Amino acid sequence: SVVKASLKNKPDYAAPRLRNLSVNNLPSAVRRFVEKSVDLCAPADVHVMDGSEAENRLIVEKLLADGTIVKLPKYKNSYLTRTDPKDVARVESRTFISTKNKCDAIPTPASDKIKGTLGNWMSPEELERVVQDRFPKSMSGNSKIRYLDFTASSAGNNFRHVRKINARNGFPGRTMFVIPFSMGPVGGPMSKIGVQLTDSPYVAASMRIMTRIGEPVLDRLSKGEDFVRALHSVGRRQNMLPSWPCDPERTVILHKPESNEIISYGSGYGGNSLLGKKCFALRIGSTIARREGWLAEHMLIVGITSPDGAKRYICAAFPSACGKTNLAMMQAALPGYKVECVGDDIAWLKYNPKTKMLHAINPEAGFFGVAPGTNWKTNPNAMATMESNSMFTNVGQTSDGGVWWEGMEPPAEGVTITDWLGKPYDGSSVAAHPNSRFTCPASQCPIIDPLWEAGEGVPISAILFGGRRPEGVPLVYEAFNWEHGVMVGAGMRSESTAAAEHQGKQIMHDPFAMRPFFGYNFGDYLAHWLSQESRHGDIVLPKIFHVNWFRKDEQGKFLWPGFGENIRVLDWILRRIDGDCSILESTPIGYVPKENSINVEGLSPTPNMKELLSVPKKFWQREAEAIETYLKEQVDKDVPEPILEQIAKLKERLSE
Ligand code: GDP
Ligand code: PGA
Ligand code: MN
Ligand code: MN
Repeated sequence: SVVKASLKNKPDYAAPRLRNLSVNNLPSAVRRFVEKSVDLCAPADVHVMDGSEAENRLIVEKLLADGTIVKLPKYKNSYLTRTDPKDVARVESRTFISTKNKCDAIPTPASDKIKGTLGNWMSPEELERVVQDRFPKSMSGNSKIRYLDFTASSAGNNFRHVRKINARNGFPGRTMFVIPFSMGPVGGPMSKIGVQLTDSPYVAASMRIMTRIGEPVLDRLSKGEDFVRALHSVGRRQNMLPSWPCDPERTVILHKPESNEIISYGSGYGGNSLLGKKCFALRIGSTIARREGWLAEHMLIVGITSPDGAKRYICAAFPSACGKTNLAMMQAALPGYKVECVGDDIAWLKYNPKTKMLHAINPEAGFFGVAPGTNWKTNPNAMATMESNSMFTNVGQTSDGGVWWEGMEPPAEGVTITDWLGKPYDGSSVAAHPNSRFTCPASQCPIIDPLWEAGEGVPISAILFGGRRPEGVPLVYEAFNWEHGVMVGAGMRSESTAAAEHQGKQIMHDPFAMRPFFGYNFGDYLAHWLSQESRHGDIVLPKIFHVNWFRKDEQGKFLWPGFGENIRVLDWILRRIDGDCSILESTPIGYVPKENSINVEGLSPTPNMKELLSVPKKFWQREAEAIETYLKEQVDKDVPEPILEQIAKLKERLSE
């Protein structure tokens, strides 16, 4: 191809070369990946990211020029993006795992009439067809000048040059950014490397916040370290918004776990485009984890120091938009407690032979948090984290140069708001999209844990499962043992939220909060979880709990105050970790707190603890039935026997 030819003839064609990072200097495996993708997508230019400040300024300048972002003068180095209104959330129905054998990727439902809900499979041949249908020339322009050598004519600042051409000739083709990135601290024993290629400067800028990118990662690659190949293009369609190109009708998010490849087309929205996050750290990550004997989970990681000075770390898996970020950086309402944040969305957990415990790292370097509902009362630490160097997506904009969303403190007198669609906000609709997000560096979190970048991770004493359950599910209960706990994870259900394309507030099955993120057959995933107990003879497994901040009264009001007050539940959990048996009561579903064993001192109004902790028998009989039916229908013969036994025991206990 023309580009490939220019690559051979002109070793310096990649621009701007802030630190002499040209395609030709890339380690050969990376270079082959770039060349192959350049051939396919025909970008106008290639830029290898070094991760520097200077480079970031150029990308921001380009984004401002394109109208993709606007500056938010109220905060330092922070910007607002409005996406195409059709590109606002993850698209689970267009997300596929591609393997030779279908049963490696997803379970086979018990009958043809049952639609599988635990992932989508695509054959390698179909994947090739889908790719060839979308990617050829996806980064190229419609003008004849698209192969101009920007370096020669623009003295190291190709963005300004591209802009000029843009104005003259319409869309001249895009720059392909080459982003070497590390999930986990660079070089850490649990960390993994990826290389993302993207034609979206918004993605390039966001990857710099969400992962560790640039030269240190290139050094690892030069030493021959293996990497996940991640190709992303926002694609082409007629009448696309120049500031937010995308192709919503043809969006696909593809994964090839057998060759550690990710291919994402048509969407710029974070969950679909920041490929280190859901695609790598969870979907591909879970398949690597299975091969290597560890776990890749949709979990926050938090450290809690109790008044006696003991510090414990816990992980919690809640579905998207169900409270992970808030719990991970909560401002504890009980005196004497100190909460510190390791991660708010993803945990990689691995047995550590020194402590005999599961240790967890947060593979990310930033937060991609739900904006609505976040304020100085509910989550002051998140608010402080995003005061600078942050990217806001689809939130409202205030006339004094700040942001606003539903649930935030009202803006000052006289300040007006522009909504996420760019229209004046008058209160008749929302100012921020319900899935609007803030993207900010984790290092800016005032309560970031001193060990958040520890390569070997932090030891995990407990795992919490949870979700939005308006009815029947107690504030907290504890599993009887590991096998029972794995069954509790398998039986998780939650109200759907705006984080994905599902409509309404249906209660959906969401095992382990991983339903959209499994990289392999969920039946095998269950077996892998169960195997943790026998895999290492001496392992001290975390205790497993289930929590529910979202139970409602008859008027539809939350029974529990939530947020910082959730420390009261964690306090009970910590006492259980210490082995206090005087605070529990055995019920058919697990151990629940004994009356008065949760500290509600100083809460007003006093919550209805009887209601919050009740385990309605009829409800749970139906629940156990629903979980069993779901697993038998969806996973059929791949459900491990111990899980079915645990459900049978639960039903037995409920019938006594
Ligand atoms: P994540 O997507 O799992 O990280 O969830 P977030 O922590 O971002 O929370 C999602 C939404 O749930 C936000 O609007 C929060 O304000 C809200 N939320 C989080 N924790 C609680 C809680 O304890 N109680 C209530 N009522 N809402 C919560
Ligand atoms: P969340 O992360 O879990 O914080 O919502 C994004 C997502 O899961 O899409
Ligand atoms: Mn998530
Ligand atoms: Mn979150």
